[in-house]
Amino acid sequence: MSILITNIKQLLQVYDHNVTIVKGKDMNQLSVLENAYLYIEHDTIIEYGKMEDYHPIEAETTIDATGRIVLPSWCDSHTHIVYAGDRTSEFVDRINGLSYAEIANLGGGILNSAKVLQETSEDDIYNQSIKRLDEVIKMGTGAVEIKTGYGLSVDAELKMLKVIKRIKQDTLAFITPTLLAAHAIPEPFRKDKKKYVKQITESLIPKASELNISHFIDVFCEEGYFDIEDLESILKAGKSYNFRPKIHVNQFNVLGGVAMGVKHNALSVDHLELLDDSDIKALKGSNTMPVALPGCSFFLGIPYTPARKLIDSGLPLAIASDYNPGSAPSGNMNFIVGAACVKLKLTPEEAINAATINGAYAMGISNMYGSVTRGKKANFIITKPMDHYSEIPYQFAHNPVEQIIINGQLLE
Ligand code: NIG
Ligand code: FE
Repeated sequence: MSILITNIKQLLQVYDHNVTIVKGKDMNQLSVLENAYLYIEHDTIIEYGKMEDYHPIEAETTIDATGRIVLPSWCDSHTHIVYAGDRTSEFVDRINGLSYAEIANLGGGILNSAKVLQETSEDDIYNQSIKRLDEVIKMGTGAVEIKTGYGLSVDAELKMLKVIKRIKQDTLAFITPTLLAAHAIPEPFRKDKKKYVKQITESLIPKASELNISHFIDVFCEEGYFDIEDLESILKAGKSYNFRPKIHVNQFNVLGGVAMGVKHNALSVDHLELLDDSDIKALKGSNTMPVALPGCSFFLGIPYTPARKLIDSGLPLAIASDYNPGSAPSGNMNFIVGAACVKLKLTPEEAINAATINGAYAMGISNMYGSVTRGKKANFIITKPMDHYSEIPYQFAHNPVEQIIINGQLLE
């Protein structure tokens, strides 16, 4: 299998050396080759350069990309794409005045999705979820993190992990599974949350580790969900089974979860709609990627992550969809890149860095994905005709994707 793409108007994210993260001011730089070619074999990037330096290469498929941009596929580092059913009725309840918190307190929200998932067969969950994944792949996403968290019992969480494993085996996208058992307090544990935390640390984590599907652990650290003490005990238990943290923090409250994540070498701290100076201080000099989820802010009408504050402090930033039935029922990364520019005040360069190389970093795969570098995986978006890559976020909610190459395979 070999594919040659010629006459590329702009080839984005070209790095001869292996860049794995972009921070601060550097986020405003995109490495662009104008009038370029790209050659891939099987699933690997072999060669690229300027058309003026091009010597004919024999390829099984040749694509003339005149007038088109080619860039690495989106790396969506935070999703809950595996779920059963939907929460359209809660959406309407919110329009009619109920808040996300009020709906959750009435037994809706995450608990609603957990009830439906527990009653749905593994096959059915798989079929519903892979359909969503196929849709986001067509919109240019090539790597996806998928969390559990709608199981909320040992058996149902393991069922979710098994579904994610099947998806990982069957899809061309790269999948990173994350264990998010501490997503909400299940009804039977309402009066004794510590008992559920104990079930996670003593039963679920060892069993999940035995399945050897996931190596990341997540906790929803918020008032009414899991506090800082719960967070630390779950992260410590996870660590002893080699789970690295990727956590939900600072969506509605600042509880100190950012510093706790950094202390436990979190790969990412996600949401951050609220952020104080101690959070910025904690992130400085760490290996932890802050991740903003503008689709969630858009859908819930909550504040947007103060992304400028992070980047202007010299920190990196990734953006992700948070695709889930309650707070962000869309996995369209083209919209996320547009929303990052409009609402987080990122430049197109910063937004594209945040959705490619930094997204890959937030999944632990930026050695393989997120840039055009010889030896990296062949996951690309070939856009519709456009003059400049800034049109991708400018035409918000528009689909800029004409063709995709995923794991070396061309999908029209
Ligand atoms: O990232 N906030 C926690 N988890 C999801 C929402 C889940 C849900 O409402 O089903 C989020 O926004
Ligand atoms: Fe989330």
